[in-house]
Amino acid sequence: MSNQVKYVLQESEMPQQWYNIVPDLPAPPPPPLHPGTRQPVGPDDLAPLFPMALIMQEVSPDRHIPIPEPVLDVYRLWRPTPLYRARRLEKDLGTPAKIYYKYEGVSPAGSHKPNTSVPQAYYNAQDGVRKLTTETGAGQWGSALAFACALFGIDLEVWMVRSSFDQKPYRRLLMETYGATVHPSPSDVTNAGRAILADHPDSTGSLGIAISEAVEVAGGNADTRYSLGSVLNHVLMHQTIIGEEALKQLALAGDTPDVIVGCTGGGSNFGGLAFPFLREKMAGRMNPVIRAVEPAACPSFTRGTYAYDFGDTAGFTPLLKMHTLGHEFIPDPIHAGGLRYHGMSPLLSHIYELGLIEAVAKAQSECFAAGLRFARTEGILPAPEPTHAVAAAIEEAQRCKETGEEKVILTALCGHGLLDLSAYGDYLHGEMRDFELTDAAISEALAGIPAGV
Ligand SMILES: Cc1ncc(COP(=O)(O)O)c(C=O)c1O
Repeated sequence: MSNQVKYVLQESEMPQQWYNIVPDLPAPPPPPLHPGTRQPVGPDDLAPLFPMALIMQEVSPDRHIPIPEPVLDVYRLWRPTPLYRARRLEKDLGTPAKIYYKYEGVSPAGSHKPNTSVPQAYYNAQDGVRKLTTETGAGQWGSALAFACALFGIDLEVWMVRSSFDQKPYRRLLMETYGATVHPSPSDVTNAGRAILADHPDSTGSLGIAISEAVEVAGGNADTRYSLGSVLNHVLMHQTIIGEEALKQLALAGDTPDVIVGCTGGGSNFGGLAFPFLREKMAGRMNPVIRAVEPAACPSFTRGTYAYDFGDTAGFTPLLKMHTLGHEFIPDPIHAGGLRYHGMSPLLSHIYELGLIEAVAKAQSECFAAGLRFARTEGILPAPEPTHAVAAAIEEAQRCKETGEEKVILTALCGHGLLDLSAYGDYLHGEMRDFELTDAAISEALAGIPAGV
């Protein structure tokens, strides 16, 4: 019997192209709409914010997009990432299931986010862009983009959600170490931030507010563009390198997945892991159940509605057809700051509507208990976001224990939690609580969704 734990690929085996799932879907996703005309946005509408190469990837009909050599060259710093078999966790659970996790925490910034920050910085640099703005929740995305901007010589200004700014000072310092400027959001340096602070001086912030601030500054400066760490088609496509590698690695292990689980904030690590497997599923080559795991405090799939809504709080972005809790929804300050987004990737939302994936929601205390169990068996401390994925993997493995099924479970451990220790501290010292999200609070937030679109 094999006792192999790590399935690794050589640098030469790293995928050379990203996978675009759109042409393989039975129906195309609904387009983003211009908020004024309510007509589909064209490339020119997006040009003040994004370089044309990324805009063309956003709407590309091509199944594969070659990864530029300078991007591959940076990816080689940490890719291919390892696929682990969680043998110690399996043993601890006493499950007949096999649990595999694709570990993205080996990147310089500690998560999957550099898979897209590097190409985004590269394409902007190619266009002569001098400065980028962005939002960040937990600070993982901000530090990933700060790393990429340092490599490609671009200045970066980051709006970091206030609750995370206070909870995670070392993420801010990591961004500053890479050379970025960091503001807490809401901030007093933008109109959008000042408007929120006027009504709610103690606002804990949200990704939606931070996006408004970053978009406002990029839109108002000709030499500045904006970069988004999740949600959009091109971001999910850049992340498919995770799933393409995992496919090869599971083949090395001689397994195909029965269940794929992943955490969803805007959907990028989940889409990145799942899409290559969904391609195989749609082609009839495997048949995994694919399950998104979201926080109970921000349940866009499981308690939101599928509608056209703004991607940000102030209403600066195009209208996106997505599962949303309403762009004015401010999630409670859970520690998984990267999952505190009111909406879900339009592409994943569409795939959910097509019935190709399912979703569950989990409260943070169950997730941190799972994170702790994972750390005490596998050794790696998961970031608060992927503790949701770990909790779902454990739940499935425990089900297998009851039924005796030897299912193959695959998940993405999309980041380490070494800069999130204060969250684990709260959990260990009994200071973490779950937030109750009432139907009334959701109805109130849903009422803010633009009508008649
Ligand atoms: C480690 C980590 N995991 C997951 C997420 C959620 O984003 P996404 O759903 O795009 O993967 C974030 C976002 O900041 C993150 O930092």
